[in-house]
Amino acid sequence: MNYWTVIPAAGQGKRMNAGISKQWIELLGKPVLAHTLHVFENDPHCEGVILVGSEKELKQMQDFVESFQYKKVRKIVPGGKERQQSVYEGLKVVPIDTDFVLIHDAARPFITQDSISQLVNTARETGSAVLAVPVKDTVKRVVENQVEETIDRSSLWAVQTPQAFRLSIVMEAHGKADEEGFVGTDDASLVERIGQTVAIVMGDYHNIKLTTSDDLLFGQAILLERQG
Ligand code: CTP
Ligand code: MG
Repeated sequence: MNYWTVIPAAGQGKRMNAGISKQWIELLGKPVLAHTLHVFENDPHCEGVILVGSEKELKQMQDFVESFQYKKVRKIVPGGKERQQSVYEGLKVVPIDTDFVLIHDAARPFITQDSISQLVNTARETGSAVLAVPVKDTVKRVVENQVEETIDRSSLWAVQTPQAFRLSIVMEAHGKADEEGFVGTDDASLVERIGQTVAIVMGDYHNIKLTTSDDLLFGQAILLERQG
């Protein structure tokens, strides 16, 4: 099944504290964004990619897309202050006759074709699906340095991107959240809010988001292992 992809890349990478936003950090000689785009560029089912960049980096992003000669990147649009706004700006320029859209963070460069295929197959049946992995640590709710509750881990999953949705569903969800001033921590939470069921697809523990500098160590190890 064919799909479009929206890639939010308009953040500042404050927690990484690298002096540049995360998609420009080089891993094994290539910017993170090049690693992220690789799978979508090579997936025949991906019809097009919308890149969302911060206003001040739009030119840099354009130059990057030209220098790597990406064929799938159809548009580069300015994002917003919050990730949710950036995604919504990207969704607004996906062709209206598109059935399914994937939303994938630029800062998650280790996504594989295998995970995308499984996600898309599930979304086709359910309308909405997200990649996630079972939580490995014991998680406690803490208030003022004291444990309030130990949460039953057997039902906890750590959610990743890509997240796949029927375009009409995710547009309705973002429109409603925007109107009502609701901010969620992912796109699926907006879709859940309009009463849609979101399916979970087993993801991959290597599909990490680069958030702090520790993640770069693991990231480099993942790439070295893949190089063989
Ligand atoms: N993002 C975005 N627009 C924003 C904020 C974030 O497009 N206003 C994107 C980031 O570029 C990233 C993804 O959303 O690819 C996930 O966000 P996050 O990991 O939080 O990245 P940053 O916001 O850049 O990092 P930080 O929160 O540490 O500043
Ligand atoms: Mg952020």
